[in-house]
Amino acid sequence: MGVETGPLAQQAFLRILVILETRDYLWPDEAACERFAQALAHGPEIGDACIELEGGLGAGKTSLVRHLLRALGVTGRIKSPSYAVVEDYAPPALQGRPAHHFDFYRFNDPREWEDAGFRELFAAPGLKLSEWPQKATGMLPVPDLRLTLEVQDEHARRVHAEAGTARGQVLLQHLDREFQA
Ligand SMILES: Nc1ncnc2c1ncn2[C@@H]1O[C@H](COP(=O)(O)OP(=O)(O)O)[C@@H](O)[C@H]1O
Ligand SMILES: [Mg+2]
Repeated sequence: MGVETGPLAQQAFLRILVILETRDYLWPDEAACERFAQALAHGPEIGDACIELEGGLGAGKTSLVRHLLRALGVTGRIKSPSYAVVEDYAPPALQGRPAHHFDFYRFNDPREWEDAGFRELFAAPGLKLSEWPQKATGMLPVPDLRLTLEVQDEHARRVHAEAGTARGQVLLQHLDREFQA
């Protein structure tokens, strides 16, 4: 049949095109991942940010999420949401806004998107952190920031950051000012 031109196709199209600004970082060790998370957490923009985390198993996506939630004051257990798809938090630093940590690795039924209420979660205020966003392509909104992590050796990671919105550009500016590898 004809080329898909519905809203989902348009969204997928935008996801590929809108990259406003990029940065490349090196984390020599996990302490650098922690400092990176602290710099990201610094401004008010993090409170409603939508951040996608790409990279293979063991790249450090969940570790970054843990350091970010800790930097926002979360003290309880932070577990990987692989079976539940999403874990919710109420980080003290976000002043009432929630944080949602998604892992779409096992997400394969688009109907689950509606049934689980993910559309509402992404439309509402709060921090959204998504591992394996490529498994939910066409569902997810344009991210403020997309971070692609790559293992360099046992301790070092290369990080490519793409800002897709003005909020993402502000997050990059926080990193410019506050993150030193
Ligand atoms: N520089 C680093 N940044 C993040 N994690 C690191 C780093 N160096 C080593 N690690 C380790 O790599 C592993 C990454 O695992 P995890 O965060 O679960 O990856 P993912 O969620 O991408 O599959 C953790 O055991 C973490 O301690
Ligand atoms: Mg993970």
